[in-house]
Amino acid sequence: MRTTYLDNAATSFPKPPRVYERLREYLERYGGCPGRGGYRMAKEAEALIDETRSLLAELFGVKEPQRIVFTLNATDALNMAIKGTVAPGDHVVTTVLEHNSVMRPLNRLERKGLIQVTRVGVSGEGLVDPADIRKALTGRTKLVAVIHGSNVTGALQPIQAIGSIVRTHGALFLVDAAQTAGAVPIDVEAACIDLLAFPGHKALLGLPGTGALYVGPRAQLTPWREGGTGVFSERPLQPEEFPYCLEAGSPNTLGLAGLRESLQFILQYGVAWIRAHELSLTRRLLDGLRAADRLTVYGPLSLDDRIAAVSVTVAGCSPAAVAEWLDRAHGIAVRAGLHCAPGAHRAIGTFPDGTVRISPGYFTTDADIDLCLEALRDAADTIPQTHDPTPCAGSASGGAR
Ligand code: ALA
Repeated sequence: MRTTYLDNAATSFPKPPRVYERLREYLERYGGCPGRGGYRMAKEAEALIDETRSLLAELFGVKEPQRIVFTLNATDALNMAIKGTVAPGDHVVTTVLEHNSVMRPLNRLERKGLIQVTRVGVSGEGLVDPADIRKALTGRTKLVAVIHGSNVTGALQPIQAIGSIVRTHGALFLVDAAQTAGAVPIDVEAACIDLLAFPGHKALLGLPGTGALYVGPRAQLTPWREGGTGVFSERPLQPEEFPYCLEAGSPNTLGLAGLRESLQFILQYGVAWIRAHELSLTRRLLDGLRAADRLTVYGPLSLDDRIAAVSVTVAGCSPAAVAEWLDRAHGIAVRAGLHCAPGAHRAIGTFPDGTVRISPGYFTTDADIDLCLEALRDAADTIPQTHDPTPCAGSASGGAR
């Protein structure tokens, strides 16, 4: 059975054809260690990494590409941002929607008594009100960390309005763009973003094991890892220059070669075009879900406030059973459960079972969406009801059917 892949919020699949082609070429012809040799292969590998950095800078309106530091993934970038900026006695503002990659580092620092954390709530549709962020700021607030697009509800937060409030206050603004980098236009200057964390393998259409953190000039980060940089090797301490201050050890050149290709692909079509395409798929999905019996849809009503990640529950059925049925009976790949964001599920009333998340991507077609809708109707008719069939309280939208 052919797989219909609708789990692009976890990782994008497939990748643009040029990514596969160039990876093979890279493995066969290049492969030197960047910045670690004067020979041609090493220089070519270094140029490839510089180009990848420049493409990311172009995508996010970053003036100094070297301020983009490569990481393992978004989690790595978020840890680097949080642990590199926050000091004992600081106050941090965040939201209840955050992924565990923000929640867990903050929770640990808070439990150790090192920092104070304020978690701002959301509206019934899962949206943050910038006025609530303003109210939460104190004289000790060092950092405000906000997830741009929720990986659970698909709610897209007003980062421009939040960023302007944070900048005026003087704190640092960290945006978790795990779901939006490559899918929603982002300009770090326009949104007053000091720290932008994102993975390479989701909407940027690159390989797992890639990610980055943009570090703006207002942010001072303590090094996350120290070691070889290939330059300034005579210095006893980690160089202060970007990107070496936060990058050490041999980089994931193969992954970054793939990312370079996928970035060229994205820039060729433009993020605005990609967003329009994904929203058209999302509209089709939401219309079909809202018209079906026994399905409850969560998240914002307006497409403008959404990304292409839709959470749904089937009355009386566990999300895990529905996802298993979609896979087994229809070959459809979706993710069920808490999506590593228990706070978001608490906010929409779907904790602890979670939801079934359907996340179309660049290569999803209308036919894939129709197949998924048909399969969900089939699931609702076929799977034995084991749960209370009342829709969960919270931010169910679309008539809460
Ligand atoms: N955080 C990723 C997701 O939402 C893996 O599935």
